[in-house]
Amino acid sequence: MRLHRLFTTTFLLTSVVAAPGPSSGPSAENVKRVANSEAGPRQNKNYQLPVDTKYFHEPGGTNELGHYDIRYYAGSPVSYEERGDTLHHLIRSYLTVFRERNIETWIAHGTLLGWWWNGKIMPWDWDLDTQVSASTLTWLGENLNMTMHNYTSINPDGTEVNREYLLDINPNHIERVRGDGMNVIDARWIDVRTGLFIDITGLSEVNPSTQPGIWTCKNFHRYRTRDLYPLRETEFEGVKALVPYSFDKILTQEYSTRALTKTLHEGHQWVPEQKEWVKQGTVQGTIQPHVPRSLQPEGEPESGLKNLFRVL
Ligand SMILES: *[C@@H]1O[C@H](CO)[C@@H](O)[C@H](O)[C@H]1NC(C)=O
Ligand SMILES: *[C@@H]1O[C@H](CO)[C@@H](O)[C@H](O)[C@H]1NC(C)=O
Repeated sequence: MRLHRLFTTTFLLTSVVAAPGPSSGPSAENVKRVANSEAGPRQNKNYQLPVDTKYFHEPGGTNELGHYDIRYYAGSPVSYEERGDTLHHLIRSYLTVFRERNIETWIAHGTLLGWWWNGKIMPWDWDLDTQVSASTLTWLGENLNMTMHNYTSINPDGTEVNREYLLDINPNHIERVRGDGMNVIDARWIDVRTGLFIDITGLSEVNPSTQPGIWTCKNFHRYRTRDLYPLRETEFEGVKALVPYSFDKILTQEYSTRALTKTLHEGHQWVPEQKEWVKQGTVQGTIQPHVPRSLQPEGEPESGLKNLFRVL
């Protein structure tokens, strides 16, 4: 098993030199462990933590403010464009760093739905979701908690991107049941410029004797071993990624089949010719009525399994 390899590999926490990749591809270098105080306020110097049992804090509970880490929130929400750019590099850096270190992770929830449509983040998404096994989570907590990761990449227009990300592991991860519901997120990968993050949740077989092969997170999502494994190799936002084996079953259970056919969502329209979700009002021509998937011409939209086969 991969996990075994993971435990026997020696990880160096300083001056890890990334293997040279394609020149325009992302690379992850220079890992540094930070003290809690160092991870603290940068942009947001005056934040106050509420006294509660929650480990991760956000500046507010609304859709607008609930998607930033309070330590790095710069005081006002980012623009639509900045959010798109931030989330794009957030997931690319995460997938690149985890792959380089041979740490198993796969994309989940709305992020998996975005992958299904076109291998990208849905432009109305605020945060991203990934999953790991609970044993990977334990390993992360012991070896990579509070590590800062530098990442470099070149944008298509030639500009260089240099970003830093914090990996922070919730100590409550060892408790595998929901509890008071304040700590359902087990870890975060945080963009320290803006505070936007990836929520990482662990899955475990909570009752191996009475319910073998049933994996759950702390937020009542349940999966069968055979629906998760073997994970499938694919691409997301232009970098290598893994998705659960039965991604279609998992997606329809979580979002209904309609989520895989609905072409108008949150002010965005699916444009099959471009294989993109385009903000309404910016789509050329008139809005197309929804055509059931069974009536759509072959090959449109290119998604799901086709998306997978393209990269296999
Ligand atoms: C990452 O890069 C920044 C600026 O380039 C530098 O100040 C920082 O020390 C680097 N961090 C690590 C972990 O190497
Ligand atoms: C990670 O580090 C932070 C800061 O030191 C600490 O509060 C937290 O308990 C640590 N997490 C784990 C899993 O040990």
